Amino acid sequence: MNEQIVIPENEQYQELREFIAEHKNSKGALLNVLYKAQSLFGYLPREVQYFISRELHVPPSQILGVITFYHFFRTQPVGKYVINLCLGTACHVKGAADVLKAVCKELKIDVGETTEDRLFTLSTARCFGACGLAPTMMVNEEIYGRLTPLKVVNVIKGIRERELDR
Ligand code: FES
Repeated sequence: MNEQIVIPENEQYQELREFIAEHKNSKGALLNVLYKAQSLFGYLPREVQYFISRELHVPPSQILGVITFYHFFRTQPVGKYVINLCLGTACHVKGAADVLKAVCKELKIDVGETTEDRLFTLSTARCFGACGLAPTMMVNEEIYGRLTPLKVVNVIKGIRERELDR
């Protein structure tokens, strides 16, 4: 990260600056700031990492270390729909691996990637606390349960069709 990165003066950065000012002395400040930044920008590009480094007085390497350690953080933009497939124990036992395979095949991407049309990003999680519905996935805020490879493909097709109708 070099010093020539230009940070735009917009509302998102302003909000992040205020958040950092409020939380910089609290425990776990860096994690909280990264969460906040990702919720504001959708992901954590270099400029945002640089901004946090500068405002929080934390070396860029430490920021990158945290981002790469936690799968939750993203450095690439995400699709309009984030598919989060549960790979927790209950879902695993009920066939989550086959569901995941079907999603990858249908979207032609792997976990952590975004489709070319920027419609879907695929991610995985460890238990949504809805094990009775296993296997499960979240698509943005919505939960889907008792998935099968066929059902998950139909959910994806349904979203695509709705998007085409817009
Ligand atoms: S293990 Fe998947 S919802 Fe709990």
